Amino acid sequence: TQPCTHLLLFGATGDLSKRMLLPSLFGLDADGLLPDSLRIIATARSVHDTAEFRALAAAALDATVDADRRHPDQVARFLDRITYVPLDASKAEGFAALAQEIGDTAHVAIFLSTAPSLFGPTIAGLSGAGLAGPGVRLALEKPLGSDLASSRQINDAVAAAYPEDRTFRIDHYLGKETVQNLIALRFGNTLFEPLWNAGGIDHVQISIAETVGLESRADYYDGMGALRDMVQNHMLQLLALVAMEPPARFDPTSVRDEKVKVLRSLRPIDRATVESHSVRGQYVAGAVDGQPVRGYAEELGRSSGTETFVALKAHVDNWRWQGVPFYLRTGKRLPERTSEIIIQFKPVPHSMFGDAPLKPNMLIIGLQPDENIGLTMMAKAPGLDRDGLKLRSVPLDIGINNAFADVRRRIAYERLLLDLIEGKQTLFVRRDEVEAQWTWIDAIRAGWAAQGMAPAPYAAGNWGPNGAIRLTERDGVSWHD
Ligand code: BG6
Repeated sequence: TQPCTHLLLFGATGDLSKRMLLPSLFGLDADGLLPDSLRIIATARSVHDTAEFRALAAAALDATVDADRRHPDQVARFLDRITYVPLDASKAEGFAALAQEIGDTAHVAIFLSTAPSLFGPTIAGLSGAGLAGPGVRLALEKPLGSDLASSRQINDAVAAAYPEDRTFRIDHYLGKETVQNLIALRFGNTLFEPLWNAGGIDHVQISIAETVGLESRADYYDGMGALRDMVQNHMLQLLALVAMEPPARFDPTSVRDEKVKVLRSLRPIDRATVESHSVRGQYVAGAVDGQPVRGYAEELGRSSGTETFVALKAHVDNWRWQGVPFYLRTGKRLPERTSEIIIQFKPVPHSMFGDAPLKPNMLIIGLQPDENIGLTMMAKAPGLDRDGLKLRSVPLDIGINNAFADVRRRIAYERLLLDLIEGKQTLFVRRDEVEAQWTWIDAIRAGWAAQGMAPAPYAAGNWGPNGAIRLTERDGVSWHD
């Protein structure tokens, strides 16, 4: 695949662009990773000229990139790549101007960071203006629909102009170093894989906890809720990476074939099981980090039936995972910002130490805020105990952080933008994956509706409603914290 000569960024004045995309592109440029001739065509609805947009981009870099990484000549070179073209994506006319700006070069990467309602018109406009030829790739940000049917509509509209091998669906979790490290941990080592199944693993926990509340996204978030905002995409991708069979190669087909098999093997949580396998919550006033915060409904300005917390007990119905629960939980206004995956191994089959409690080994893969991989082990506590050995669970730190202490951790979007520009699809989500994810999510939502399951309140700063604790405790499991 040819690297691109043009990157066309829709939604360039938006929040994602300012916080993530422009800083990521700058990071790549500063490290010499962008093709020398790459031009960035930024576009959005607001009317600016290029100089104004460059000033806006410079301010975005000031706000997000450490001063010692912002050398004036690198910033100048980066800004120089950018041309701004205002465009109302709902009107066809503007696209001709875009096409003219690009000229007849064949290799273009397009990044849609806009409201999904604009995907259809934008794609139609692009292909009408000749910007869908064989050298043009299209990347899309979530939400890719709000259920299976609407996601199919988007996928069909995309497919009418861009074949699957030129469609790059973003799940930014796949761009995180720590998430890729999960693949390295599983398949770059022999240590864990023999135990990585129902014979060796008792259960898996995946948690993504956030301290933020609604932020300024009321329209989007209240229409979605935690299940669709976080589980449908990020958490199911993490689950798929934990549960997949070893891919033969790190390439788009091998990896995504294995992930989609997992997603299709998820046991449906439906009307019959939704009450015992899912918990919905919504935060009410409380305190996070010692600061009082308002409840969701107050932030929103009205009452709402949207969940800001969800916990699930999932099963992957295949040979490897029979009987192993995957507990998932995510929410806003929880006590801390942490994302982690816990692999809890089976207890020893027989203890030679009498009644002394033994804690099963646990592999802790911390994704955020810090990357860390830890393992708990039983060890003998020092001392001359007369009534038998005293054992204690101690952490074995794998020391990822120290091993790579001097390497800058990149923003997920640096990886994804570079891969888009270079045409590498492995870390992007394939259509069949997205649709398998929605199929599973739709059944849960239908179950909630059928059972009239409304979100239970939890005070901000707590780990969700009590039901979340019961969900695991019923099985003799506690959430890791
Ligand atoms: C986004 C969700 O996809 O992921 C947000 O829409 C959430 O609600 C965000 O805050 C979390 O991403 P990260 O990288 O901060 O864990």
